[in-house]
Amino acid sequence: NTYLREVLKESSADVSGKLAAYIPRLRDADEHLQALALATADGQECSAGDDEHLFTIQSISKPFVYALALDDIGLDRVRELVGMEPSGEAFNELSLEGGTGRPLNPMINAGAIATHHLVDHTSHEEHPGGRQSDSRTSEVRSRTTRILDGMSAFAGRPLEIDWDAAEEEYSTAYRNMAIAHMLKSHGSLETEPDEAVRGYIDQCSILVTVKDIARMAATLANNGINPENGQRVVSAESARTTLGIMATCGMYDASGRWLTQIGIPAKSGISGGIIGVLPGQVGIASFAPRLNEEGSSVQGVAMFQHLSNELSLHLM
Ligand code: DON
Repeated sequence: NTYLREVLKESSADVSGKLAAYIPRLRDADEHLQALALATADGQECSAGDDEHLFTIQSISKPFVYALALDDIGLDRVRELVGMEPSGEAFNELSLEGGTGRPLNPMINAGAIATHHLVDHTSHEEHPGGRQSDSRTSEVRSRTTRILDGMSAFAGRPLEIDWDAAEEEYSTAYRNMAIAHMLKSHGSLETEPDEAVRGYIDQCSILVTVKDIARMAATLANNGINPENGQRVVSAESARTTLGIMATCGMYDASGRWLTQIGIPAKSGISGGIIGVLPGQVGIASFAPRLNEEGSSVQGVAMFQHLSNELSLHLM
């Protein structure tokens, strides 16, 4: 903990970067918040800073939902609609694979919207949450239940959705809606575009602490078994495939630089979180809201760089 506090202090020097501005929930975040957590594959945990602060998971949901989709319908069926190659473009570009109309990978928004709708909703009850007056169909509600249950299993505690944040994002989701309509026109979406976006935004609005996402990362590190309670969440194969996608695509158009300089499969989110996974060893999570050009936390990148250097965590 003393060590983690030191890392937080060293990385706090860089106050560059900007808060995400597209919804009030993120625009109004406290930019001084900072947290770091580690969870090992054999169940040891430590954390420092604002480690009880809840924030919306945003894009860090993408690898976990991809793992759930792999478990639900298998890699072959997932690959029919979502590719496995880095896009080299920003997270909110369309980035369709030439000739197929499939989004290039499940970490960019296009691929994540498609992946979201591949999660099996048929065996799950509708979730009671959300607003009475909202427009969620029963398919959207039951898929969100499946995803919320799955994410809670990764975290080892019942997670909740920030319905107000979801509402804010849905009411201005013009770009994601456009992406979903393009996917639909290419035959890469089997549901209605607005339903896929509605559910995808609910998925992004799940509330987590840095400790939650460290434990979720540790579950991927531990071959799909939650190290804290021993529950299997996804198969070892689904966890491994997901880590491969994180390594190649998780940091968007900075993925190559990240893997060479920091050397840890990772995923960032626009609310300021980053997770990293060292297979068989540890899940790492950071939180600090100011973002760089690629939409990743400036101080989070610095924290990971410190940890990678000082603890020799670089995979290569
Ligand atoms: O769909 C979006 O644009 C957001 N809900 C999530 C994007 C995100 O987290 C990108 N990450 N840096």
